[in-house]
Amino acid sequence: MKAKRVSISGALAALFALTACTTPERSTEPELARQAARGQAYAIQNCASCHAIEAYEEASPNPDAPAFAEAARLPGMNRRALDVWLHTSHPSMPNFIIPPEQIEELSAYISTLED
Ligand code: HEC
Repeated sequence: MKAKRVSISGALAALFALTACTTPERSTEPELARQAARGQAYAIQNCASCHAIEAYEEASPNPDAPAFAEAARLPGMNRRALDVWLHTSHPSMPNFIIPPEQIEELSAYISTLED
């Protein structure tokens, strides 16, 4: 039990060290929270008419539109996978394009819906 706790904090320390030297200008907690807040605001204005965008929403207004929280909980879903997912085009709305800047904010937001 004790050994396990030690190895987890060791792994976390390594992760923080890695984050600190590879991406100094991104991925810090307050920055993620700011991005997520902007993503949520964008989603409320642009996606919520069809998609369930909040963690507590069970069903989307448009039953064909996947709930964002459901997407966040898919196995293996992470920021990178969310970016890819958000680049998927809407078959029913081929002209609906999400600007790259918003994709980053939306993926930050959706990643917070996981639990
Ligand atoms: C007018 C309704 C509507 C709006 C607005 C809308 N969507 Fe959708 N979305 C859908 C529907 C319906 C689908 C199911 C696939 C299809 O028919 O295009 C879908 C599918 C998706 C998919 C692909 C899911 C998959 O696994 O293929 C993503 C990602 C997505 N929406 C993200 C968004 C985001 C982000 C926004 C806001 C910026 C948004 N959508 C706004 C209706 C909408």
